[in-house]
Amino acid sequence: MEIIHTVAELRARLKSESIIGFVPTMGNLHSGHIDLTRIARACVNAHSPDQAGAGGCVVVSIFVNRLQFGPKEDFGSYPRTFADDTEKCRAAGVDIVFAPTEAAMYPAPQHYLVEPPNIQHILDGAVRPGHFRGVATVVLKLFNMVRPTVAVFGKKDYQQCRVLDNMVQQLNLPIEMVLADTVRADDGLALSSRNGYLSAAERIEAPQLFAELSKLKHNILSGERNFAAMEAGVAAALDARGWKPDYIAVRRSDDLLEPSPADKKLVILAAARLGATRLIDNVEVTLDE
Ligand code: PAF
Repeated sequence: MEIIHTVAELRARLKSESIIGFVPTMGNLHSGHIDLTRIARACVNAHSPDQAGAGGCVVVSIFVNRLQFGPKEDFGSYPRTFADDTEKCRAAGVDIVFAPTEAAMYPAPQHYLVEPPNIQHILDGAVRPGHFRGVATVVLKLFNMVRPTVAVFGKKDYQQCRVLDNMVQQLNLPIEMVLADTVRADDGLALSSRNGYLSAAERIEAPQLFAELSKLKHNILSGERNFAAMEAGVAAALDARGWKPDYIAVRRSDDLLEPSPADKKLVILAAARLGATRLIDNVEVTLDE
């Protein structure tokens, strides 16, 4: 496995690769990320003429992107575990870790920004102004550096997936987007780099977020349609257990707007604080045709 820090070196190395699978990350890798690298490998193999991955290459980027953190967020304290991350990538059979320095990514102040449409201002975007602009900008830059055939993202960051998938479509980027299911711990907690911030007691409580979303899904599938009342019910239940919910929202899955009765593909999204840690999660719901 190679570790590359500059764009010039990366471009030179990737010149001969015809099929590139790409997993962008901010490091602090867990089994959810490793799962994405396996999916990337499978996609590369599927694209290669002999289906054996000949000529294919899996790239993982590790870059903590200042642009997507708000002034009061955890950019400074975000866990940086580079040695551990590269070991995990090596063990997972990744070919290249691309870890650009801040100067390689932002050699000058980034004045050209990707401004996603209204989706960037709702849900997580309402709580984290500028976050999705920062994500879309760095991902477009990474796409231009790596020029992947396939890019794999985890659906735990559902809104991010929608923003980026729409960006790829609207800007005609020749990239196949693969949105992978969330990997969960045995008790249901969605794997996340921020789970490491939880105290032992909070870690025991944390799966309750998924449990509440699963109950809400069950209620929708049982025919309940008063989404506002159900959202308020989950927020109150979490609140009573000491959480501080930012939002619980039933939305349609393609654009995250409020569903009409005709919409069949829904997603329940949630963000809530448990102590000092902000957790997000979501559950997709498909209604019978
Ligand atoms: O999901 C993440 O880890 C980040 O938002 C991403 C996509 C790597 C952009 O910095």
